[in-house]
This record gives sequence, C-alpha cells and structure tokens, in this order.
Amino acid sequence: MDHFKLTDGILHAEDVPLPTIAQEVGTPVYVYSRATLGRHARVFREGLGELDNPLILFAVKANPNLAVLRVLQREGFGADVVSGGELRRALAAGMTPDKIVFSGVGKTRAELELGLDTGIAQFNIESREEGRELAELAAARGEKARCALRINPDVDAGTHEKISTGKADNKFGVPLHHAGEAFAELGALPGLALEGLAIHIGSQLADLAPLETAFGKIGTLLGQLREAGHTITRVDLGGGLGVPYRTGESFPSPADYGAMVARVTRDWGVQLVFEPGRVIAGNAGVLLTRVVRVKRGLNNPFVIVDAAMNDLARPALYGAWHDFEPVAQTEERMTANIVGPICETGDTFATNRDCPALVAGDLAVFRTAGAYGATMASSYNSRGFVPEVLVSGSDYAVVADRIDAGAIMDAERVPEWLD
Ligand code: LLP
Repeated sequence: MDHFKLTDGILHAEDVPLPTIAQEVGTPVYVYSRATLGRHARVFREGLGELDNPLILFAVKANPNLAVLRVLQREGFGADVVSGGELRRALAAGMTPDKIVFSGVGKTRAELELGLDTGIAQFNIESREEGRELAELAAARGEKARCALRINPDVDAGTHEKISTGKADNKFGVPLHHAGEAFAELGALPGLALEGLAIHIGSQLADLAPLETAFGKIGTLLGQLREAGHTITRVDLGGGLGVPYRTGESFPSPADYGAMVARVTRDWGVQLVFEPGRVIAGNAGVLLTRVVRVKRGLNNPFVIVDAAMNDLARPALYGAWHDFEPVAQTEERMTANIVGPICETGDTFATNRDCPALVAGDLAVFRTAGAYGATMASSYNSRGFVPEVLVSGSDYAVVADRIDAGAIMDAERVPEWLD
C-alpha cells in the first residue's frame, strides 16, 4: 500500500500532482510520501505487537535524508547506522543515542570514538579484532562499550548474491562455530559490556524460511552461551524483509514476520532489536523523470529518460526491476528499452519492457525508489545529484537540493604546479 495514486488520470503523490513538482523542482527528482512512510512504520510496529518492548531502528542506509529520518523519529524509530556520517544524520534528525546501534565490518578508530562520544545504545561488532580495538578505546576512557557480537550463521538468504550477508564466505560477522571462543575472549575484556547477539542475513528476502533457520541457530547459540556463564540481554535480528517491485508480486507481511519472530524467540528472555530499511521506505518513494526523446532501434525503440544509473543504480548493479509508469494515464502501449543518457550500456533501466506509449517531454516514474535510491547516487558523467521532495497531504517541500555539476566541480582544484 502506498500513497501514489491516479487522480483524474494524473499520478499524484498524496494530494500533489507530480507534474507540479516536475515543473517547480525540475526532473529528475525523488519524491517521497510522508503518509506512506508513517504507515509502514506503524504496520511494522504493529506486526511486532506480540513482543515485549522491541527496539525498532531504521536502517539509515536505505534512505538517509534528514526529513525522512525525522518522519521515522516521530514514529518512535531509532537508527541503525553504519558510518560516522549516518550517525551524525541520525542525531541531526533527533534520534537519541539510546536508540542508535552502530553496525558495519569496517568501523574506523575515529568512528568507534564517535560512537563512544555519543554514548550509543550498542555497537554491533563484527570481529574479534574490532572488539579488541573497541575495548581498548573504551577502557582508556574508563568506560565499558555496550556491544553485541554479530554472528554469521551460514544461511543462504535466497536473495541476490550482492545483498546476501549471512553465508560463511560473506565478510559479515563471526562464524557461528567461533562464537563461543569470541565471547569467552571479548566478554572478559574490561572495556566491553558484551551482552548481545546480532544477525542480518541479507536484504530483499522473499521468504521467511531462511530467517527462521538463522534465528533458530541464534536461539541455540544463546542457550550455549548462557550455559557457559554469559549474560545476554539483547538480540538484534537485523532487517531484510523484501518488498514487491513488480506489480503482482507478493511478499511476507510485517505481521507474518512478527508472528514468526514471536514463535521462534518465545523463550529467549531478551529485548529484541530490529533494523528494517527497505520495507519502511521502499515504496514510499518514486523517481520522477522526463522522457528526453524516443529513439528508433533495430528491434525495440529506446525510451531515453533524463534519469540515469547514477541517480538510481539498482537496475545497473543488481539487474533490479522497477515498475515504470507514466504520470499521465494512457491506454496505448509499446515494447521498449528504457535507458538513461549515460555513456555505457549498463545505463539501462529495462529491456523489452511492455510500457505505456511515451513521447519526448512526457513524465514517468520509476516506482519503489524510496529505499536504496538517492542514497546510492553518484555523479558519474558529471551529472550532479538529484533533489529530493517530501510530500505531506497537499504540501510538499524540497528536502534535498539539486547539487549540480558546477557545485561538485567547485570542490576540485588544479594545483599551481600544473599551471
Ligand atoms: N541491517 C544491516 C546490518 C544491513 O546491512 C542492512 C542492509 C539492513 C539492516 C537493512 O536491510 P533491509 O531491511 O533494507 O533489507 N543496496 C541494496 C541493499 C543493500 C542492503 C544492505 N544492508 C539494494 O539496493 O537492494
């Protein structure tokens, strides 16, 4: 469910016609719906209704825009961050340190220090090496860093290989069968309060079964660690719930997920932590684009739009599907290749796609672009960064300015010795 709907044949974001935004802000532009974000936050929370006091953290990487984070902060969400930059954003959006967890395999010393300075709720440490470093830094301040050990359960999440994180040869977490040793070593360090476990096996999961398998393994480990005398008060179950990108696809709902979690974790006696990203923000955003021209091809025509792989990288990176819809409804259809202007063939959003018949100047959207859209943009081909707009009812605001190629160039210089 989302709040991008046709009214009088024109696609609207809530009550705002998309042509209005295109005209005032220009294209391409990301458009987010506040009502959709709020709805998904509530549906997710309600899905976990059976659990006692879960801590729900938005995975900032999915959409780090400050206004988006603020919407979720107002819904009671905290933040799962993976860099100093994301931590600063979460704080700037009003998320409090007691609801911030720091994940990631490569936290630098400076980032660990920033987490300690901030007094975050938990570091999810991903290796013994990282644990030792954090322990040293915390002990030097006379502190104990609250942390959880991320476990790699060796479970295939059944998703795209580039976004699968829980297989033994993925870089994430400590292998399940090293967990006992790692706990024994790290749990004894004076600089750490190691009282948690964490897991995240991948993103865009279409099936709950791999999650259930992984959680089952964590449950067994939890029992073993307690038997060995460790105290475990929190388990972070990560994110990963997938969303439909293609009309007609169906995915497990947050309620299905919550029921599975409640069943598997019934006897754990811990506070559960969740890190949803895509399921909250995915279909709360579209990338609004304009057709530059339609070029005749040998087989299909090429619909060349003004958005490109630098703005929305998912199709080029993962072969991902995004529904492509016209802003003004039309009955006529065509089979086309939808491409951006960038000078490589990878800049293709869709091939052989049955799509509305479009002509130069028409507006269209790539759907489900609210997660892993703007956040993955680059300035390849010196294209600058696309602006972002947040709609709320009949209001809208530009929540990220367009950064044009000139502004990026302003940060560069030619050294004198090249003169
Ligand atoms: N927690 C951790 C530790 C993660 O690594 C991730 C995502 C999440 C939570 C949130 O996962 P979600 O609920 O959004 O599935 N760029 C890719 C997705 C990469 C996901 C990386 N980690 C894409 O566009 O599909």
